[in-house]
Amino acid sequence: MRRAKITIVGAGNVGATTAHWCAAAELGDIVLVDVPATEQMPMGKALDLLQSGPIMGFDARIVGATDYEAAAGSDVVVITAGIARKPGMSRDDLLATNARIVSSVTEQVKACSPNAILIVVSNPLDAMVQRALQVSGFPPHRVLGQAGVLDTARYRAFLSLELGVSVEDISALLMGGHGDTMVPMPSCTSVGGIPVTQLLSQERLDAIVDRTRKGGAEIVSLLKTGSAYYAPAAATAQMVEAIVRDKKRLIPCAAYCDREYGVGGYYVGVPVILGSEGVEKIVELQLTASEQAAFQHSVDAVKELVAAMGKILAGG
Ligand code: NAI
Ligand code: 2OP
Repeated sequence: MRRAKITIVGAGNVGATTAHWCAAAELGDIVLVDVPATEQMPMGKALDLLQSGPIMGFDARIVGATDYEAAAGSDVVVITAGIARKPGMSRDDLLATNARIVSSVTEQVKACSPNAILIVVSNPLDAMVQRALQVSGFPPHRVLGQAGVLDTARYRAFLSLELGVSVEDISALLMGGHGDTMVPMPSCTSVGGIPVTQLLSQERLDAIVDRTRKGGAEIVSLLKTGSAYYAPAAATAQMVEAIVRDKKRLIPCAAYCDREYGVGGYYVGVPVILGSEGVEKIVELQLTASEQAAFQHSVDAVKELVAAMGKILAGG
């Protein structure tokens, strides 16, 4: 059986670390692409990572490039190209620059890998994945965004610290956009099968939800030179694995919702079944009245972001 071909566009912190996780898990052969202005940086990172294979015991062909020739015929393309947040910058500040970068990257990916599944990571995520859909013209099930796996991991990590319980026993779900309006779902959070509300006071739970919402900004304020990348890359690699190994994972992803949840044609974080076809199913939950209100608020924020992107791209 042929190995999967995984292209990662943007060989910066998230892109290179995603390549690292994907190689270590032997998910396939990897092409790391960046812009010519980075000189031979992607080639250097790819060669360095390749040379870790004999030590770590993985087989993967890893190459770097500053054009798309080596990326031809990819099965999965991860887009991390763009600028990252600096202290004081919101994800939305990235909108204008990254909309143009994601448009140009998607054009080139469409030309070299017309059958690929696209995973967008660049921020502001919910608008960038919408842009990738518009430019690629791919069916929506083959274009999705990474946010929910990361946000849910942060929530699970904070719960694990609070309760002194292994992260392995914490199962949780977050929905909505990748921003301050994201919607943690306490009704879908359990610890060893026990509803979290039986283990934590509402006050502590609210504090953890709040820290999760601000999880990206917390890392930015500590790093000072950029934004998080270990956990974002691990989250992206989990999505790549679900696709190339057809695992049918039920995980939260930014998926194109039209009739689903009454969203009306936007990307928003929802639970999906992810397998070799991409988004194979969007799982629709019965939301409580307060969850529905919080979800709608988040969807409205995504719609505003997409409208702002449309104005920028139209030169308005
Ligand atoms: P970084 O600055 O380390 O790397 C970005 C790379 O993209 C750079 O190497 C740059 O040269 C490259 N690039 C720029 N324009 C390009 C183009 N046209 N074609 C190919 N490559 C291009 O940034 P980092 O930390 O890797 O973050 C990347 C993006 O991912 C940012 O937009 C960041 O906000 C976003 N992000 C999203 C997360 C999520 O959960 N969705 C989590 C973490 C980061
Ligand atoms: C994060 O949540 C910056 O979106 C990125 O860390």
